[in-house]
Amino acid sequence: MKNDRIYFFDTTLRDGEQSPGFSMNIDEKLHFANQLVKLGVDIIEAGFPIASKGDFEAVEKIAKMVKGVQIAGLARANFEDIDTAWEAIKHAEQPRIHTFISSSDIHIDYQLKKDRKSVLEQAVKAVGRARSYTGNVEFSPMDATRSDRDYLVEMLTAVIDAGATTLNIPDTVGYAIPSEFQSLIRYIVDNVKNIDKAVISVHCHNDLGLAVANSIAAIEAGARQVECSVNGIGERAGNTSLEEIVMALKTRNNLFNVTSNINTKQIMSTSKLLTHITGVTVQPNKAIVGANAFAHESGIHQDGMLKNTMTYEIMRPEDVGISKSTLVLGKHSGRHAVIDRLKALGYDLTNEELDRFFKYFKALADVKKQIYDEDLEVLIGEALYKEKGRFKVINVQISTGMYSPPMTLVTIRDRETAEEEKFDVANGNGGVDAGINAVKKITGTSAKIESFNLVAITGGSDALCEVTVTAVEEIEGKKVKVFGNGVNIDISVAGILSFVDALNKLEYKKKLNGIKDRIEAGL
Ligand code: KIV
Ligand code: ZN
Repeated sequence: MKNDRIYFFDTTLRDGEQSPGFSMNIDEKLHFANQLVKLGVDIIEAGFPIASKGDFEAVEKIAKMVKGVQIAGLARANFEDIDTAWEAIKHAEQPRIHTFISSSDIHIDYQLKKDRKSVLEQAVKAVGRARSYTGNVEFSPMDATRSDRDYLVEMLTAVIDAGATTLNIPDTVGYAIPSEFQSLIRYIVDNVKNIDKAVISVHCHNDLGLAVANSIAAIEAGARQVECSVNGIGERAGNTSLEEIVMALKTRNNLFNVTSNINTKQIMSTSKLLTHITGVTVQPNKAIVGANAFAHESGIHQDGMLKNTMTYEIMRPEDVGISKSTLVLGKHSGRHAVIDRLKALGYDLTNEELDRFFKYFKALADVKKQIYDEDLEVLIGEALYKEKGRFKVINVQISTGMYSPPMTLVTIRDRETAEEEKFDVANGNGGVDAGINAVKKITGTSAKIESFNLVAITGGSDALCEVTVTAVEEIEGKKVKVFGNGVNIDISVAGILSFVDALNKLEYKKKLNGIKDRIEAGL
């Protein structure tokens, strides 16, 4: 295949947005369209203007404000749809009308209740109308993969004669398999006599999980436009996933030898923006953009990755806009990977400390699937210095009520000052806040709480509470962040214990040899 350009037609804002759970308001659509321009798509299908007033306004706003890309509006094959689509897109730098009508007998008989001849005539008239507005007209024979091939060829030949410049072949119901779809595209290339006047496009749905495979098979047969959506969203099981097809073509370029305008480094931020706007996250094992796509947990894989990333990665995470692959720690992780992560967190442990640490690590990994940085911090505390942490909470006494201001008395043993017990009392916005203020007075710490998370470990009002805090303190001119953890039957006590736990970690970090160098290295 010769080195050819593939045009990316993004339908996230039309086929994607029309599927359940993915609706967006006008400003969100505009924001997303601008991100699609950064990603480098060639055509944005901004919506279906006749569908609603909101759709019309969104398409119109995108057409007026988004530059450097073609803006398509969808229209059924009738004059009212086409006129409305044109009204919405006419201000775009490069407007495109995309009109469609079904070509399969199933749709013609049962849905349209027409016959092949009248449907073909309608398609031709619609393309002619669109062509009266713009020289950029796309035509789709809906349900093409379940249509009679010769009727399809007749229809495609006629719409090219009527002025269509892009012929989009939809696998509307995701029915095709790659070899079959490829042979259909070849059939069109070989039998539509004026095909050289149009670009062949494909639009695949993922009902059988084959949308990307079918689109690639079509490219091999000569298709040069791919319709796709970010995170693969779209009607039912979705459309061809943009990120997957882009990275398949890039990673296996030796086979395809095609180019595109996509800046792959924008893939992750585009996917995240869509998730952020719609609130729908992608599954963790989703290719390219799932949380696990560049995460390695098995000990053997982690060992290989630490030696050379080529051992278990076929793409570089930086190429899709992820800064680095992650080695997810869990029960399969080897010592090497755990030590590596601890070092990145600023803990350079001796062999004896590591032995102690690993006993705790393995015990936790047996009950918890994935071990995050927060867990490592807690484990360090448990394994290395819980008993010898500088501050130990001896007692907490809280007085509060609906009409009396909260006041907490805290007693702490300071192991650095000859096990002296110190106590103080403070007010605050509730028992926890008052207790934390009392701890600050006793210890003189300048640490600040950045986040406070409460989890009930057991059910019911007598539940055990676990509180995790993030505390930040400036040490030798750099901000150092630690996690603190506390468990108690009383939520306020758990909060105070978690803060003291964080202070102990900060004390430990201050004492680590070479802390200044590590902090400067950002560790
Ligand atoms: O799936 C489909 O057939 C469509 C057409 C409008 C192109 O979305
Ligand atoms: Zn579709």
